[in-house]
Amino acid sequence: MNVGIDLISFYTSNYFIELKTLATTRGVDPAKYYIGIGQEKMAIPPPDEDIVTMAANAALPIIKQIDPAQIDLVLFGTESGIDQSKAAAAFVHGMLGLSHRCRAVELKEACYGATAAVHLAMAHVRTKPDSKALVIGSDVARYELGSPGEPTQGCGAVAMIVSSNPRTMKIDLQSGIYTDDVMDFWRPNYRDQALVDGKYSTRVYLHALEEAWKHYQEQTGRSFGDFARFCYHLPFTRMAEKAHERLAKFCGVELAAGDLERQIGDTLFYNRITGNSYAASLYVGLCSLLDRSAEDLGGKRIGMYSYGSGCVAEFFSGTIQPGYCAHLQTARHAKMLAERAELTFRQYEDIYNLRFPTDGGDHEFTRYRTAPFRLAGVKAHKRHYVHSA
Ligand code: CAA
Repeated sequence: MNVGIDLISFYTSNYFIELKTLATTRGVDPAKYYIGIGQEKMAIPPPDEDIVTMAANAALPIIKQIDPAQIDLVLFGTESGIDQSKAAAAFVHGMLGLSHRCRAVELKEACYGATAAVHLAMAHVRTKPDSKALVIGSDVARYELGSPGEPTQGCGAVAMIVSSNPRTMKIDLQSGIYTDDVMDFWRPNYRDQALVDGKYSTRVYLHALEEAWKHYQEQTGRSFGDFARFCYHLPFTRMAEKAHERLAKFCGVELAAGDLERQIGDTLFYNRITGNSYAASLYVGLCSLLDRSAEDLGGKRIGMYSYGSGCVAEFFSGTIQPGYCAHLQTARHAKMLAERAELTFRQYEDIYNLRFPTDGGDHEFTRYRTAPFRLAGVKAHKRHYVHSA
């Protein structure tokens, strides 16, 4: 049975800051951000946006394309959960009006959560071929102001329908996995900014890539040349370039001029102008590839590398389905990104420094351009989401 991604949709905040603005204020050469880490803009969530609104806003357009009654599983991968008990999946389930005969669960392993969700959803669909699963990756990447991680912040969500006979990408059964108990990036419950051993994290990311690839290769016998394109987890776009160069070298392949751009270039475009979205990030790269590729990718195999600090890594693959373009959200993605508003440095810092009310009082949040779902406020410690369109 063919199982994989039937539909895929991306959403990010309607606000961003130019990294030139950040560089100027921090006294850093903008080339470090534009070239050294390969980022141009950072998406910033306003106070009425969180991982739940982003997830619901990503999911709504694809839910409208199917019979939502067929969804009997919602899996939500995130690093930036909003509740220690209630799953973000349960909020989204309610906001989308899904069937009560549906499981809804949140998964956590840093940026790897959505990939675990994709594979669990596929196993579910294999046992119930008529069912569909809604898989979400949604995150706000937040580091301390002025820290090396600051220019790699961002936010975004990707929603996917996983089903049998998928119209976008059939995913191969075999995966290469690598898990190791390391402290490269973490966020204790009492913090809302991630802690990271930056340089070490990039080394672990690359080592885990080699190990996951080895495991994938042992099972499939496939080689580097069997893939038309590669999507890598994208903490920042330069990381994917380094990963691709590393994998090519590991496989004994010499990249010719233009190979890097041809094999991964289209996957980087959205991340470069939105920043890290942790669990969503690999799939933002996939959306970017599918939306921007000038070549018809139908029938082509794509290599996918997911990395979650801590760490769990997985190399897997899938084949893009003929006619996939008709089912993409390309026009909506372009409109959303084109209509975003730029923040000044002051506005960025003010939003960053806002503290979520924790006094149990009744707080109504200022209305920004967040839509169609927004976080209207919090009362008695309960978040109140509304459909505002
Ligand atoms: N012009 C051009 N390039 C410049 C430059 C300039 N003026 N100044 C510096 N650079 C280059 C540097 O040479 C360097 O390039 P190389 O890596 O190719 O050597 C690059 O810009 C970065 O400069 P630094 O090494 O000085 O970087 P830094 O100390 O400021 O921090 C970082 C970089 C460690 C990635 C930091 O941004 C960070 O901690 N980020 C968060 C952690 C992260 O994203 N880790 C990725 C792996 S973990 C993961 O993937 C999970 C996840 O999502 C977090």
